[in-house]
Amino acid sequence: MPHTSFIHTEPVTQQNDAIDSADAQYWADAATRYLDWFTPWDVTQHGRFGQDMRWFEGGKLNASYNCLDRHLETTPDKTALLWLGEDEDESRSYSYRELHAEVSRVANALKGLGVKCGDAICICLPMIPEAVITMLACTRIGAVHSMVFAGFNAESLRQRVQDFGTSVMITADHYRRSGRLHELKSIADEAVKDVKSVRKMIVVQNCKTDIDWQPTRDVWYHEICQRAQPDCPPREMDAEDPLFIIYTSGAKHLPRGAIHTTGGYLTYAAMTADKIFGLNAEDTIWCTANLGWITGHTYILYGPLLRGATTVLYEGSLGMPDRNRMSRVVEKHNVSVLYTSPTGLRHLKSGEMDRPFSDQLRVLGTVGVPMAPDLFPLVRRMVPDGCAILDTWWQTGTGGIMMAPPLEEGRHSDALTGSLPIEGIDVAVMDDDGNEITGAGEGELVIKTRWPSMLRGLYENPARYQEIYFSRHPGCYDTGDIARRDEDGRFWVIGRRDDLIRTHGKRLNAREIEESLSEHPAVAEAAVVGFPAGSANQQIAAYVTLLAPEKESDSLRDELLHHIRQRAGVHASPDMLVWCSTLPRSRAGRIRRNLLREKARRAAEKDA
Ligand code: PRX
Repeated sequence: MPHTSFIHTEPVTQQNDAIDSADAQYWADAATRYLDWFTPWDVTQHGRFGQDMRWFEGGKLNASYNCLDRHLETTPDKTALLWLGEDEDESRSYSYRELHAEVSRVANALKGLGVKCGDAICICLPMIPEAVITMLACTRIGAVHSMVFAGFNAESLRQRVQDFGTSVMITADHYRRSGRLHELKSIADEAVKDVKSVRKMIVVQNCKTDIDWQPTRDVWYHEICQRAQPDCPPREMDAEDPLFIIYTSGAKHLPRGAIHTTGGYLTYAAMTADKIFGLNAEDTIWCTANLGWITGHTYILYGPLLRGATTVLYEGSLGMPDRNRMSRVVEKHNVSVLYTSPTGLRHLKSGEMDRPFSDQLRVLGTVGVPMAPDLFPLVRRMVPDGCAILDTWWQTGTGGIMMAPPLEEGRHSDALTGSLPIEGIDVAVMDDDGNEITGAGEGELVIKTRWPSMLRGLYENPARYQEIYFSRHPGCYDTGDIARRDEDGRFWVIGRRDDLIRTHGKRLNAREIEESLSEHPAVAEAAVVGFPAGSANQQIAAYVTLLAPEKESDSLRDELLHHIRQRAGVHASPDMLVWCSTLPRSRAGRIRRNLLREKARRAAEKDA
């Protein structure tokens, strides 16, 4: 059986272009302040940015120890994890003491199955406590987890399991969502069918449903846990040992496994939870992302538990049984920090979401897409006085939030404010020739200096890592995003570089056209894409969903086109405006622009 180990043994590079001593001291202070180390590090930062960068060299620590054990002396009985089911009566909570015992037990159970430090464990579970418990159990013994979204089909799961060289897969029988039962074990079976590295499958009995069973490979989670001891010493890991691999998928490429390491990632997760949200042990945070995405890793699991807070894990759909569920959860469970996406909040516009958030909510953060200006006043009206509204920007490769408005300012803003990089982070916008734009201007967003939670590579794909992040702007981390910096030095992220539209010698932001459309009172949502028009020019297609009871009509079409011309200019006027009942979205909730682009191209071809 091939044994995949992630723990590297190569000697440390002798080359170094390390950061200056003040910066090193800043990050050293953060690592000391936010984490407990078994052994202090010798060198804060070593190696070259984007090449062989290493942080906290020589330091030893353990993630689960930092998330759990160190809170046992001070707050053992505080709720660490609060799980909520889609059914409003369903909940389960774990104190820090209980979560520690569970994690230790599962860590021992994994050891009992022969799992060793450096082994690759794929976790494909719904949003249930066992997902958090198994992730932490892996870290306790030094196994590397790859948590995969449970909604994938067998092929998407197979690509990830295979790439990662998974030895043990953890899954469940079925799961419930939006009131329906969904298959999981059968998908996992199909996914690992031809993957030789998988030797065991641990199955959580989640719905007590019938499933196929392979006696030589499959084991029940509850059975192996029953036999395991609740005491498992945390393994001392090197700061640069991988903590997890997380897959991102570009629209056109196979999924790529971003590698995050222990010391740097954890330092940054805890630091941003503190600096952006002011999160501490008195808080209850609800991050509505899925644990399978980086947002879930950093702000459901690691950030909150490192800070000793209570973290809410909600299994259901946000619209169940209605769009006010979010505000009921916030009230009932005393949520003080809510981290969600603007997409979910758009229901404020249709009036389906109209129940104000209760008074203890002090931060409402968003991520994923920019918060639209027309949404901001609606959100402001729904949150209590003094609640900060923060549009945060980051990505899988950054490990944690990179830019946001300052917390204090976000508490009182009555319109959207631009973001600032957090202390220690140096961002810039570059023009088309690769030169830094020094004043106000719009261009490609890069990160100029290193930070501890930057991904260390793409699993087994160093060439793509270089190509994606470091080839276009040598010496900088390329975010792939376009951003504008205003006169006050604030940043406004517009979207992916690949989503820009080139037409009539101009570069248009699809986002701006979308925003002008969604400001119209008849429009619920809009997606705008450029598609090839047989020359260097692209044509513009707008896909529009309407708010009830608006009806599609030629006069409304003309009105919307006129509205866009007025707000965004004549060049921004779409060549094609298509009505649709919903916008196609990926499983991660992103608008599937490639699909819309292709649809527009075909429709134009047919008309030609
Ligand atoms: O284009 C940016 C967009 O989401 C991308 C990162 O996606 P992912 O790696 O899946 O991570 C998602 C959550 C961290 C970014 O490159 N994005 C994220 N936040 C914002 C955003 N675009 C605009 N405004 C934001 N606040």
